[in-house]
Amino acid sequence: MIPYLLGIYREQQHSPGREFDDTEILRLAAKHVEAAGYQVHLKTPEELGEIDTSLNEHLVGPPPLLVFLMCERIDALGLLEPLETRGVPFVNPLGSILNTYRDRMIPLLAASEVSIPRSQIISSNSSDSGRPSAHLGVDSFPIWIKRADVHNTQSGDVELIPSRETLQKALGTLHHRGISHVVLQQHVPGDLIKFYGIGRPGAAYQEEPWFRWFYHRDQELSRHPFSEAALESVTQQAAAAIGLEVYGGDAIITPAGEIVVIDINAWPSFALFREEAASRIAAWLLHRVRKDTRP
Ligand SMILES: Nc1ncnc2c1ncn2[C@@H]1O[C@H](COP(=O)(O)OP(=O)(O)O)[C@@H](O)[C@H]1O
Ligand SMILES: [Mg+2]
Repeated sequence: MIPYLLGIYREQQHSPGREFDDTEILRLAAKHVEAAGYQVHLKTPEELGEIDTSLNEHLVGPPPLLVFLMCERIDALGLLEPLETRGVPFVNPLGSILNTYRDRMIPLLAASEVSIPRSQIISSNSSDSGRPSAHLGVDSFPIWIKRADVHNTQSGDVELIPSRETLQKALGTLHHRGISHVVLQQHVPGDLIKFYGIGRPGAAYQEEPWFRWFYHRDQELSRHPFSEAALESVTQQAAAAIGLEVYGGDAIITPAGEIVVIDINAWPSFALFREEAASRIAAWLLHRVRKDTRP
């Protein structure tokens, strides 16, 4: 078999309203890799488990040179694990994708230099949780409630809660849906920023890591002044703490110009920058292939 790379799409349920954008960025990145002379096999996470298209050929035959993936559910990641164990490079590494689950992301970022909102992970069972603890400082409403595992997959997964009564109701609904833990989080007022990054600073790579940001639409902007260089460095620190190489996320610029990271995700859709991002992702994948196969 000709040396090839394996790419995996995101699960449809994890792309609410972004199915097309999520598919396009993976497909376009793959096209750029092919243009550099490599074969690329693209699969959906569902296909990984199917008999006739299963991962088996990649496990018993020549392994791919690299796996690049947008899927994020535990079952798909588990199926891919033997390839990573065999030494196949992954972008993003499997552990870093698991680290974006909120119950891991929050402690990892809290232990880093990155500033995040005060947060507390609690059981959704209201008899266990009672009230948000005073030390959290989120006793004053509104606060955010977010499912503690995966990112937003449907309405109710991430909600701004105006009062204690609404909190009890939201906890009950999430508990009823089988979501055992939730994050309660301080609301940080300010300008909402979206950021994107590709690469790792200091990765012995001729190109600087790629970084873009923009103000989220649908908000009344105050345009609090802040340092763009600081934003770039903080988001790269956040990515490094999680282990991500292709990522995006949300940050708030507070009235004091402080940068507070709200969220970081593995391999977003890069929709506003699709063309540019696809070619930069492909360059990064090829860098990782060459680096990892060098004698
Ligand atoms: N602590 C917070 N302070 C202010 N706004 C927040 C906070 N948490 C979430 N938000 C808002 O809600 C959006 C979704 O939250 P986020 O944590 O990014 O979850 P997800 O991306 O999984 O939906 C953010 O982009 C931001 O607009
Ligand atoms: Mg987000």
